[in-house]
Amino acid sequence: MKFLVINGVNLNLTGKREQGVYGTETLEEINEKIKSFLEVNGDEVEFFQSNIEGELVNALHDAYLGGSCDGIILNAGAFTHYSYALRDAIAAIDIPVVEVHMSNVHARDEFRHKSVLSEVCRGVVCGFGAGSYIAALAGLKTL
Ligand code: DQA
Repeated sequence: MKFLVINGVNLNLTGKREQGVYGTETLEEINEKIKSFLEVNGDEVEFFQSNIEGELVNALHDAYLGGSCDGIILNAGAFTHYSYALRDAIAAIDIPVVEVHMSNVHARDEFRHKSVLSEVCRGVVCGFGAGSYIAALAGLKTL
C-alpha cells in the first residue's frame, strides 16, 4: 500500500518547540520511525510538511489526482481548529484521511477541543506522541 503523511503548520519545529508537550524527537526522526513501521510490510510512504495552508490543500489534491495513494495521515497543527479550506479539500478527495495529533488536544486549551476536520476524516488519533502516526497508519491498513 502507498501512504502519504502530511504535517502542517509549526510541525517542522517538532523536537525543538514546547518539548514538554511534543517531546524531543524531531519530525525527521518521527518520519524514520514511520518508514520502518511500514517497510516491514512492504508499504510505501511519502512525507510532506508545510506551514502554508494552500500548499497543504495542494498536497491533498495531488495525492488524489495522482491516483495511487491508499491513505493519508494529516496532522494539520493549528489549522485543524479553523481551516475550512482543508476541510473542503479532505471532503473533495476520495482517499481516507486520518486526523492525527501528537498531544491529547482534548486535555489542552479549549480552542483545541474543536476540530473542523474530524467530520470529514475517516478517523482521529491523538495523545500518543509519535505513536499517534503509527496507530493511525495501523488503522488505515485495516481498511
Ligand atoms: C497538534 C495539536 C494542535 O492543537 C497544535 O496547534 C499543533 C500540534 C498536535 O500534534 O498535538 O501544532 O496538532
